[in-house]
Amino acid sequence: MKTRKGIILAGGSGTRLYPVTLGISKQILPIYDKPMIYYPLSVLMLAGIREIAVITTPQDQEQFKRTLSDGSQWGINLTYIEQPSPDGLAQAYILAEDFLAGAASAMVLGDNVFFGHGLPKLLEEANFNSSGGTVFGYRVADPERYGVVDFDADGKVRGITEKPKVPQSNYAVTGLYFLDGTASVRARGVSPSSRGELEITSLLESYLHDGELNVQQMGRGYAWLDTGTHDSLLDAGNFVRTLEKRQGLQTGSPDEVAYSQGWISSETLRERGMRYHKNSYGRHLVELLEG
Ligand code: G1P
Repeated sequence: MKTRKGIILAGGSGTRLYPVTLGISKQILPIYDKPMIYYPLSVLMLAGIREIAVITTPQDQEQFKRTLSDGSQWGINLTYIEQPSPDGLAQAYILAEDFLAGAASAMVLGDNVFFGHGLPKLLEEANFNSSGGTVFGYRVADPERYGVVDFDADGKVRGITEKPKVPQSNYAVTGLYFLDGTASVRARGVSPSSRGELEITSLLESYLHDGELNVQQMGRGYAWLDTGTHDSLLDAGNFVRTLEKRQGLQTGSPDEVAYSQGWISSETLRERGMRYHKNSYGRHLVELLEG
């Protein structure tokens, strides 16, 4: 079996955050002490994925290369792919077809932040299923903004609808998709929606239709945060700040995950920590070495 590869979709123009995002990609904006993309990247790394494609707009690619470079500092391999126009999430699987070369994948949206004690186990289980797809349903107060899960009377998933006016449930599908090696071929079969996009929900429907989609609950003990508006971006930053100040630990740190996975040596971690020694991000990395 081929090793699962990762995709971070960090395209889009972030219009809801204008004028902030006129000159910088949304996924590079800070969530407290780290660039936003560190958080979804850490999730893929926690899942054990080391071969990752970062999909961006052509004009923003340089910013991402400067921020993340080739990944070797974390013992991973980053590839950059351009998305010429934002034609929908499912398009990512077409753009990444050569990169994936038939391998299963985990795609995470570059603006999705996850936090939760059980996350490594949840990811491990999703990773384990090499055929079909696994997505996560999370209860939200405003499901109409997301892909929404429609359950039948027995709690079986009947469908997934993109931004329904009248949501069938409060369960949104989060921006983390574990799909098997058929995703690119299936994505090619997706027709554009009324808003002209290749919707991820249409791709998921294809799996569902074949009885190949597993919708896993991400329970209330998890935080799945939105970062798309000025308010939610600040809230996410405050959430991370509160946690980190209270615990004295980091969340969403690729350096920490790389070290705990055994992908980088203690010397590399120390160098990384010293590089950022003027702030708590760097100091925390050095403290990790001191136990
Ligand atoms: C996208 C997907 C939606 C999903 C959401 C998660 O929405 O289309 O199905 O629930 O991401 O963040 P968008 O962020 O493009 O509005």
